[in-house]
Formats: sequence, structure tokens, C-alpha cells
Amino acid sequence: MIRIALYNNKGGVAKSTSVINLAYCFQKAGKKVLVVDCDQQENCFMFFMTAKDSSPILPSDYENIKHTTWTRYIELDACETDQFDYIVFDLPPAMTDEVKRIIHHSGIVFVPTLLGEFEVAGLKKVTVEISKQQARLGGIFITMYQKENDAAILTEFQNVLDAQMMRTVIPFSRTVRESLKAGLPIEAYFIDKKVPRSPTSWKIVDAYDNLALEMMERLEKVDTPVTFQPKGVV
Ligand SMILES: Nc1ncnc2c1ncn2[C@@H]1O[C@H](COP(=O)(O)OP(=O)(O)OP(=O)(O)O)[C@@H](O)[C@H]1O
Ligand SMILES: [Mg+2]
Repeated sequence: MIRIALYNNKGGVAKSTSVINLAYCFQKAGKKVLVVDCDQQENCFMFFMTAKDSSPILPSDYENIKHTTWTRYIELDACETDQFDYIVFDLPPAMTDEVKRIIHHSGIVFVPTLLGEFEVAGLKKVTVEISKQQARLGGIFITMYQKENDAAILTEFQNVLDAQMMRTVIPFSRTVRESLKAGLPIEAYFIDKKVPRSPTSWKIVDAYDNLALEMMERLEKVDTPVTFQPKGVV
């Protein structure tokens, strides 16, 4: 079992959107996934919710995606989390003591970012905090990429960040918003809308698939603690 967190203390950089779509891609690749919503906005929790239920681990519309909140998660026993291949934590845009604890507990953190001035400037603080919490930086990836605005800075960024930077770039796509509104991960939305499959029209779907594959590749390489810390330790 591998725990990963998606974190950036900057808001609105697609942490929750990425968690939702990555969970979908991971289950498509045969993984059993638990999504843990650690944000009081509860975006992922509401997205995956199928019916009102107070169970600690909840079902979703996808057999191999279960979900919960951080508050419920910390009450779980190891045997309940051991059944999952990936536990994915969606973090709030903050750097509170609780967020630091979750980063430490996750062990591996992937950082989504936009290529705006403020987002780029804030990255150093984020990566320093990850290392302070003795977690590993799985990689930094760009979201909502718009060629006309971002192409020059992307190259510069790739050179500076080198191996920390992931190959996959998630493009800006209005359909992402529509899919979230419809309560579907992007690929499920495209299937639902019968969007003809072509590399251009399915670009955003392929991008999330590639991101998931790249993460899985990276996760196989990193040597991480794999045991659950039982109640009270977190
Ligand atoms: N690839 C994309 N193209 C266009 N819009 C996107 C894309 N990814 C996410 N968005 C939109 O960006 C907004 C912010 O996304 P999201 O809520 O996932 O960010 P977040 O980092 O989780 O935010 P917060 O910090 O508030 O938790 C949402 O309205 C979402 O629909
Ligand atoms: Mg969020």
C-alpha cells in the first residue's frame, strides 16, 4: 500500500480535480484506491458521495474507488486500509500543523502548480516543508497549461527543476469544469457524452492517463514506508 498526497499551499491549482481524475485512472489500471479528503471544503468527499452514509469508508460509483475524510480516516485500523493499493490524500491550501502531519503521514507528495508568477514563487516553500516533514517529493506537475501564455516559462521551469518536474503537463480545458459539474471524472464524462476519440479531442483525458502512469512509474522507484501507523500515531 502506498500513500500519496497532492499538496500545494496555493489555492485553486487543481489539487482536488487531480485527485479525482487520478483516482479514476489508478482504478482503471487495476489499483484499489482510497481517496481521503483532508479539506473542510470536502470537494472530493462530495464528488464521490453516492448516498448519505456515516460508515468510515464509503463506496463511490467506481468499484475500486472508496473514499473518506481525514477525520474518519484517523479512526481506521490497519486492516481496513491494508486492502488498498493507493491511498490518496487531497489537502487544503494551507500549511497548518494538521496539514504538516498529513504530509508526514503520506510519505510522498505530488505538487500540482500553475505557471503563474505567484505559484512558481511559492514552490520553494512547499518543497522545503515536504522535506521538513520527512516526506518525499514525488514530483511537480503543471496544470491548466495554456500554450500561448505558458510555453516560454515552461521551458525555463523544466530546466530549473530538472528531475523534480514531471513530463506530463495537464492542459487547460473547459470540459474539466463541465465534467466536475456533472459529477464525473473527465474520461467518464467523455464516454457519457460520446465524444469521438481522437488525440486532439481526448487530449485532456490522455493527459490524466499519462500523469497517472508517470506517477505509478515514480512510485515504483521510491522507497517509502508502506505500513499504516495505527490509531493515535498520526
Ligand atoms: N485542466 C483544467 N482546465 C480548466 N480548469 C480546470 C482544470 N483543472 C481544474 N480546473 C478548475 O480549476 C478550479 C480549481 O480546481 P480545484 O478545486 O481542483 O483546485 P484546488 O487546488 O483543489 O483548490 P483549493 O485550493 O481551493 O482546494 C476548479 O474550478 C476546476 O474546475
Ligand atoms: Mg481542493
